[in-house]
Amino acid sequence: MTKTKGPVLIIGGAGKTGRRVDALLRQRGIATRPVSRSTTPAFDWNRPKDWAAALEGVSQAYVTYHPDITVEGAVEAIAELGRLARQKGLERVVLLSGRGEPAAERAEQALQASGVPWTIVRASWFNQNFSEGYLVDGVLAGEIALPAGAVPEPFVDADDIAEVAVAALTEERHANRLYELTGPRALTFAEAVAEIGAELGRPIRYVQMTADDFVISMRAYAPEDIVQLLRELFTVVLDGRNTRVMHGVEEALGRPARDFSEFVRKSAVAGTWSTSP
Ligand SMILES: NC(=O)c1ccc[n+]([C@@H]2O[C@H](COP(=O)([O-])OP(=O)(O)OC[C@H]3O[C@@H](n4cnc5c(N)ncnc54)[C@H](OP(=O)(O)O)[C@@H]3O)[C@@H](O)[C@H]2O)c1
Repeated sequence: MTKTKGPVLIIGGAGKTGRRVDALLRQRGIATRPVSRSTTPAFDWNRPKDWAAALEGVSQAYVTYHPDITVEGAVEAIAELGRLARQKGLERVVLLSGRGEPAAERAEQALQASGVPWTIVRASWFNQNFSEGYLVDGVLAGEIALPAGAVPEPFVDADDIAEVAVAALTEERHANRLYELTGPRALTFAEAVAEIGAELGRPIRYVQMTADDFVISMRAYAPEDIVQLLRELFTVVLDGRNTRVMHGVEEALGRPARDFSEFVRKSAVAGTWSTSP
């Protein structure tokens, strides 16, 4: 499967993992079709009637659901996408999923049931939430306040997720495999924030809020469905069920996962958290 017939479709092509998958495939000379609401052809999860055009002529797909694989409607959407991919004869659909979430598992099962050859990449919280996601503003402001306490999370690097996805898109041996991806070390949000502060040489405070205060504070920045999604992720999913380190990166790539410290060093050197004008 190393020589792909058509381009590789990347749904969420400019996203945290999609753009990395896109870059790695292009480096290998493999044609890609990164799509989202703002591309031509466009791909909008809310407009299924347009999906066929995006899938036309592609031989594999990397799929990231937006805003989150656990939201209402995701299972039906993944089932429909799988059906269409099967109909169009795709050789592989690689789905990005989340750990410890029953709704995410239902979406995974919907893809598996579609009959299209699949690989599932089930990831823990991304390191890049601190550098490209919703926590970057807190790092820059010197304070991150979340309803997360002493439960450690084995944050995973989006570069590792992308490398596993690319392996799954280009190598036959990953067909119908589920990889559970975590980093090599579980750390609490307070510990993660402290590591970033130590690398930058400036204090970043971690404040543990109540879930209710978090909801009130988030309502100024995000729509209600996203606020409730984040509440659920911090209060229900972050209960210890995902603390265990898993070895999906090593299983898929034959090398250990990148450590959080490597992410922190790299981001600091790149100036990601620079506060100077
Ligand atoms: N962050 C984590 O820690 C974590 C952990 C485990 C699993 N996950 C899963 O990762 C997935 C997200 O992957 P990601 O972080 O790589 O992507 P991402 O960065 O969230 O993707 C952002 C892209 O999605 C596109 N987009 C927004 N709304 C869309 C829509 N309605 N239809 C199509 N595209 C849309 C946007 O482009 P346009 O504006 O151009 O449309 C944007 O470029 C989610 O399903 C989540 O459940 C995340």
